[in-house]
Parts: sequence; C-alpha cells; structure tokens
Amino acid sequence: MAGAPVLTIDGPSGSGKGTISRLVAARLGWHYLDSGALYRAVGLAAGWSDIDLSDASALVRCAFDTQVGFVGDGPEEPRILVNGVDATDELRTETAGAAASAIAAIPEVRSALRDRQRAFRQPPGLVADGRDMGTVIFPDASHKVFLTASADERAQRRYKQLKEKGVSVTLDGLLREILARDARDANRAVAPLRPAQDAVCIDTTGLGIDAVVERVLELLPARGA
Ligand code: DC
Repeated sequence: MAGAPVLTIDGPSGSGKGTISRLVAARLGWHYLDSGALYRAVGLAAGWSDIDLSDASALVRCAFDTQVGFVGDGPEEPRILVNGVDATDELRTETAGAAASAIAAIPEVRSALRDRQRAFRQPPGLVADGRDMGTVIFPDASHKVFLTASADERAQRRYKQLKEKGVSVTLDGLLREILARDARDANRAVAPLRPAQDAVCIDTTGLGIDAVVERVLELLPARGA
C-alpha cells in the first residue's frame, strides 16, 4: 500500500473536513479524495435505480457499477458527475447524506469502494477526507488529522452553507439530522467513525477556516515533501 504520501482528514459531518481538505490539498499541490462523495453517489444511483436501501447485494453491484467523476482540481468544490450526470447539488442534500450514511453501514459496500479510494493515492501526494481514511483505507498514512466541532456549530455551518445555496432547511431539523448521522456513523459495526490512534485531533469550534488550514499544514514538517 506504500507509495505517495497521504494526509488523512477524518471527522463527523459538518466538521469542516471538505473545505479544509480542499484548501490544504491546493496549498500542497496534492490530489484530493472526497470519500463521502463516493458513498453519496452510490446512494443516489441506488435511488435512481429504485434499489431498496436494505438490499445489500444490489447495493454492492451498484457500488461497483456507479461511475463517479470529479471535475475541477483546486480549492473550489469540484462538480461531481454520477454516471455522467452532473449531480453536484443533489449530492449535497441531507437526503443524499442520510442515504450515504445508511449504505455506508453495509460492510460489503465499504469493501466494494475500498480499492477505488486507494487508487487516488498518486504522486505527489493525497489529502483524503472521510470517516475511516486514517483507520481503514490508509492506515499507513504519513499524517492523520481528526477534525471535530460541537454539534451546534456544525448544524449552524451546514445551515449557512445550504441557505447560501438556496436550500430551505431549519436549524433544528439540521441539528437532529446531524446527531442521528453521528450516532449511526459512530456506532456501526464496520469502520465506525473514530480517530485513528495516531491522529492529531483538532477541535474547530470557534476557529476560522484559515486558522484550521494553518494548524493542519503545521503538522507536515517538510511541506509538500
Ligand atoms: O462526508 P459526507 O458527509 O459527505 O459523508 C456522507 C456519509 O457517507 C456519512 O454520513 C458516512 C458515509 N461515509 C463513510 O462511511 N465513510 C467515509 N469515508 C465517508 C463517508
């Protein structure tokens, strides 16, 4: 599994992983893996094919068959193509997040996506964002970070993000969804959300994006090396 250096950034939903990971990857000139987008894409494609979220074998086939393309490599959010269709906005909804979280609890679905995630490890390096990047997918990563923030702050960040996109949501509803998703992701039998033993935990509550980016970059002694 050795190869290009990997920085894993794991954490719960709304901890700022996506934004921080993209900015850090851009600063380092490294590739970026949004592993959550893969789970979201499979959940969405399953919905398009009317696959029941409890039908494990159909979901595994769907995980192998679903093509996911990331368009754009930089600090901005890439457009995400699912089976050739631009599904960026649909993937970001709480419904897609809940479907992703449900299928992500199925061990065979996780295995089906494992090699695809590892294939992102290419020179000069990879920033991998998810729940189990440091524990399961890249256990030998050179640098591991676990980002957290209070559930209230995460709900507020999500609220602001979705409002800006014109999506109508309530703060209370978001907080409930975040807590439910945290519980499901942390309590599942396979690859539950938890920091790797060798991860550096950063609580981002009350911290701005730039401050977190700097803190993460400080962990890499020879930047870009
Ligand atoms: O990071 P995100 O919110 O886009 O992830 C959506 C869901 O996918 C999340 O609730 C759990 C699942 N997921 C996972 O189980 N493992 C990952 N590495 C990434 C996401």
